[in-house]
Amino acid sequence: MPSLRFPDNFVWGTATSSYQIEGATNEDGRSESIWDRFAKTPGQIVDGTNGDIACDHYHRWPEDIALMKSLGMMAYRFSIAWPRILPNGRGAVNQKGLDFYSRLVDGLLAAGIEPYATLFHWDLPQVLQDQVGGWQHRSTADAFVEFADVISRKLGDRVKKWITHNEPWCTAFLSYEKGIHAPGGRDFKKALTVSHHLLLSHGLAVPVLRQNCPGAEVGITLNMNYAMPASPSAADYDACRHYDGYFNRWFLDPLYGRRYPADMIEDYIALGYLPPEGLTVCKPGDLDIIATQCDFLGLNYYSRAVLRSSKVPEEQNLPRTVHVAPLSEQTEMHWEVYPEGLRRLLLRLHVEYGVPKLYVTENGAAYSTEPDKDGRIPDTRRLEFLRDHFVAARRAMDAGAPLAGYFVWSLMDNYEWDRGYSQRFGIVWVDYETQRRIPKDSALWYKGVIAANAVDD
Ligand code: NOJ
Repeated sequence: MPSLRFPDNFVWGTATSSYQIEGATNEDGRSESIWDRFAKTPGQIVDGTNGDIACDHYHRWPEDIALMKSLGMMAYRFSIAWPRILPNGRGAVNQKGLDFYSRLVDGLLAAGIEPYATLFHWDLPQVLQDQVGGWQHRSTADAFVEFADVISRKLGDRVKKWITHNEPWCTAFLSYEKGIHAPGGRDFKKALTVSHHLLLSHGLAVPVLRQNCPGAEVGITLNMNYAMPASPSAADYDACRHYDGYFNRWFLDPLYGRRYPADMIEDYIALGYLPPEGLTVCKPGDLDIIATQCDFLGLNYYSRAVLRSSKVPEEQNLPRTVHVAPLSEQTEMHWEVYPEGLRRLLLRLHVEYGVPKLYVTENGAAYSTEPDKDGRIPDTRRLEFLRDHFVAARRAMDAGAPLAGYFVWSLMDNYEWDRGYSQRFGIVWVDYETQRRIPKDSALWYKGVIAANAVDD
């Protein structure tokens, strides 16, 4: 079994997000977020749970940092809860919120773990939703810049890696088209508006972060699915083009100076989602702001999508495309395991978009493997999943993709949004009764990968 080495400065870490792990939703001046409200709305979450306690990380962060250290982690990607920092969405700053993240960052640095901070991982202050409709309103982009400014002034001397948004596709389409994420909207037109305001807020925040954090790198994280046609037919190719435009290019193209994809604007006009004039929420100058050059792109990769054409729009709430059921092994999320998609996407970003620096900011799998009678958690399938994806990433690097680091989702089991606690993505087991953390076999294996800076093929 040949060992595939990674470059000496390659960064290995794990990722989490505030609402999914922190708990303490009512403490130290944090205000309500749209996820608190949504999770407490009957019928929205499969197991009826919410993030009130989650992994209690707000209180247990020293233990969690020690855990990361014991596993040899070099970096940690976490997100900052906007309602802890600006409880009114904008304006008055909550010192206790700032202090929490400041202590966390100090703790990480003391443990030799580099912080990668994400500004928006979905927990918008409810007050902004109530007052202006959240991301539907352009002013939320300005509020976001205020939030970015306040938190980066506080942490900018120590945090040198900033990610503006996590998965804007989800914030726009899961939250406003499909209705399964907070705030539960079901209106494609609104989702398009939201997507633009998210991208705009990113572009507006980049120079602010740069100014407040000398020497820092700034980027954004996109979730991409590797899109493939189900057959060589022209109709399936077109379905694939449409899906790729909706899921991937709608965000990538404007970020990399190509404007919104013309074929998608055309499709959306034809489908009645946009007026004949096109994306009218995009004002003069916006595209330049969105295309502000970034230092890196974060890729969250989980699976591929195989598409066929359909004449039945209701099937997907999107005409023309239908997902074919996974063709091979799937995780408990029913996402197909497809490492080759990661290799291809990394290469696409390198070749087609010329992205100067890439991170895999999330990759991982939901498997519910429990502790055995000795308390060991033999999550072999997760370990194999990660190994195969690490190898795929390394192959992309061989072909030139400028991949600088890899963050496994997730450090520990946590609150999986509309799936509640039913899905376990952690490399560390969390016993939600006792809050005990137990590293799974995958965590121990990952520790070895990091130590060797190599993975067995
Ligand atoms: C994407 C999201 O960023 C994260 O919050 C989520 O838990 C994982 N992927 C798994 O679905």
